[in-house]
Amino acid sequence: MFKRFFCISFLLVLVLTSAKANNKHDILISTKKTSMLIEATPGNPLRFLYYGSILTADQVVEIRSSQNNLQRSAYPVFGTDLIMEPAVQIVHADGNMTLDFYTKGYKSSNVDGGVLTEVTLADRYYPLEMKVFYRTRIAEDIIEQWTEIIHKEKKAVELRRFDSAYMPVRRGDVWISHLHGTWSSENTLTEEPLTHGMKVIKNLDGSRNGRLAQAEVMISLDGKPSEQSGRVIGAALCWSGNFKLRFDTDNNMVHHFFAGMNDESSAYRLEPREVFQTPRVAWTYSTEGVGGVSRNYHRWARNGNLHGGDKTRDVLLNSWEGLTFNITEKGMHEMMSDISSLGGELFVMDDGWFGAKYPRNSSKTSLGDWVVDTRKLPNGIKGLLDEAKRLGIRFGIWVEPEAVNTQSELYEKHPDWALKVPNRDFHFGRGGTQLLLDLTNPKVQEHAFRVVDDLLTANPEIAYIKWDANIEMRNYGSNYLPKYKQSHLYIEYHRGLEKVLKRVRAKYPNVVMQACGGGGGRVNYGVMPYFDEFWVSDNTDALQRIFMQWGASYFYPSMAMAQHVGMQPNFQTGRTLPLKFRFDVAMTGRMGLELIPSEMTEAERVFSAQAIKEYKQIREVVQLGELYRLVSPYSKQGVASLMYVSPEKHKAVFFAYKLEHFYNQTLPRLRMAGLDHTKKYRIKELTLPEGEIPSYLHNEVFSGALLMNEGIELPLKKEYASRVLELVAE
Ligand code: GLA
Repeated sequence: MFKRFFCISFLLVLVLTSAKANNKHDILISTKKTSMLIEATPGNPLRFLYYGSILTADQVVEIRSSQNNLQRSAYPVFGTDLIMEPAVQIVHADGNMTLDFYTKGYKSSNVDGGVLTEVTLADRYYPLEMKVFYRTRIAEDIIEQWTEIIHKEKKAVELRRFDSAYMPVRRGDVWISHLHGTWSSENTLTEEPLTHGMKVIKNLDGSRNGRLAQAEVMISLDGKPSEQSGRVIGAALCWSGNFKLRFDTDNNMVHHFFAGMNDESSAYRLEPREVFQTPRVAWTYSTEGVGGVSRNYHRWARNGNLHGGDKTRDVLLNSWEGLTFNITEKGMHEMMSDISSLGGELFVMDDGWFGAKYPRNSSKTSLGDWVVDTRKLPNGIKGLLDEAKRLGIRFGIWVEPEAVNTQSELYEKHPDWALKVPNRDFHFGRGGTQLLLDLTNPKVQEHAFRVVDDLLTANPEIAYIKWDANIEMRNYGSNYLPKYKQSHLYIEYHRGLEKVLKRVRAKYPNVVMQACGGGGGRVNYGVMPYFDEFWVSDNTDALQRIFMQWGASYFYPSMAMAQHVGMQPNFQTGRTLPLKFRFDVAMTGRMGLELIPSEMTEAERVFSAQAIKEYKQIREVVQLGELYRLVSPYSKQGVASLMYVSPEKHKAVFFAYKLEHFYNQTLPRLRMAGLDHTKKYRIKELTLPEGEIPSYLHNEVFSGALLMNEGIELPLKKEYASRVLELVAE
């Protein structure tokens, strides 16, 4: 009854063993639990049919024969398609503004951990092609999609719109979850229903794209997002530059979703035979709610999309909040000795260590002059490394390779390396003198590489680099790009950045690197393959961090999230919080400290050393385990709670925080998740300050079933009470 079915699943023997359908050019792209169905009939436009739970061959037939499939063009084009937003628009060399793509052919091949499917679309008239790639990550349930545009027209064509991917989503009670913010309130979560009209999530910062809005979204298909149930699609654009995620909700039952580099002020002149590659969109899908989608992204990140995703991270002390620019050798020695005696493993010297002609005493000078200031550090970095070695800890250092201050030797030598608009005055950033370097220029790329390379060549023991980026693209003009290609700047900047990062990683695969963007500005999967972690925010206030870290965890694994116990009162908000609360909040990610340990009381030092010791015991579960978010701080129930479970469900760590404090307050019963129903877990309370009595749960044994079905009544009596429970299966 059915014609033979072309199915790439023959390559996924374990996933689909037989396949048949009523269209022999249907391509079923499957992972362990998900499928995407496209139709690539030669001569016709490429069509999108389905994305969701894994399909069997029979179900493919059902998708086709039911009235429910969308059968939309996989890449709506301008001028010849339905009257709707296009995903691709190109002006040909002769001025024709339209495209008319047909499918020319397709092929697929096995690649590491998945299958790569490549569909070639060609214009019916012009010698212009677009290749569409679908790459599965089978075990992680991720499908990566991107395109390449190439042509052989006589002159350059102009790319006006170049989305990486498009997906039609059926209308209904569809909600989206996305992250946004500004300095010191990054990674804030918003969940909202999609309604008629356009919803655009975009960034125009130019250099960092993780601050104002982030390049990921979840689409909940069954109403208000739920942590543990409901069908949810995830889309993450792996790009560090300006981006645009657009939902166009029409009158025909569809939310049209587009994801790609931001096209605003970015028309791209594509020369004949030049290949224009768009960034990957990483799709995922889960029937286990937003929590399921998060866990898919976390696994995918740990398995190759986050640098060093298989290794646990060190506990560190960073000098910034404690000392800001006031770096001295004595101060560094003191901090190193303190973190070592508290049980930490790494010390990071932040801003303020460099500058020969111009000492870096404030943000006004010296960026660009990456030589040690021997007035502050008479024995150089070598002296600090020797001391770190003596103390048995590792050493890291702060740099900002993409920027320059006008008061610097670098600017005096190479004023043309800074971005500048001809005929216009500078618009300065931080310190009133900061400028962004022109990373489109190979000489500047070489400079940025050298910042790291020179430091690591001279001091191979440096174990950690904090790579900061404190300025947006305020002066839109490149001395390097020709006049007629100035509109390439937003894109070429990030291609330049990626080249530098690739070179750094090729030479230094083992150095741990943090992506910092003046706080949480560099949170994106464009750069994460080169970085081990990111700075969540300059705001270390533990109460606000609960909200920000909750948001970041939607798409990013805990091991990538740098979470520090901050100063008292807090550096940004001025709030005073118990040390235990600050530790308990930092512990859900890559924990560190950012304060002056020598200013602590003896009791605080004893507590900190104990908390660090206990964190090291649970670190593997926190950093490599599966996250289950339990009660959202955004749900305003007065409490927030989450937990991590080891892959074999043998160990777990549970966290709960009191967010509000009222007399006779009703707090929810906390039901755990992700445990093994049949296992019995012994509970141990951690991070108890000396003299405090553990809760009644301490040392008790409960079944996974009880903990998940009934949950626990947790005493959280005092203001800013918090609890950390370790669960070990007996
Ligand atoms: C940025 C970072 C901070 C710190 C300072 C140093 O603001 O986010 O963590 O490194 O720069 O100037």
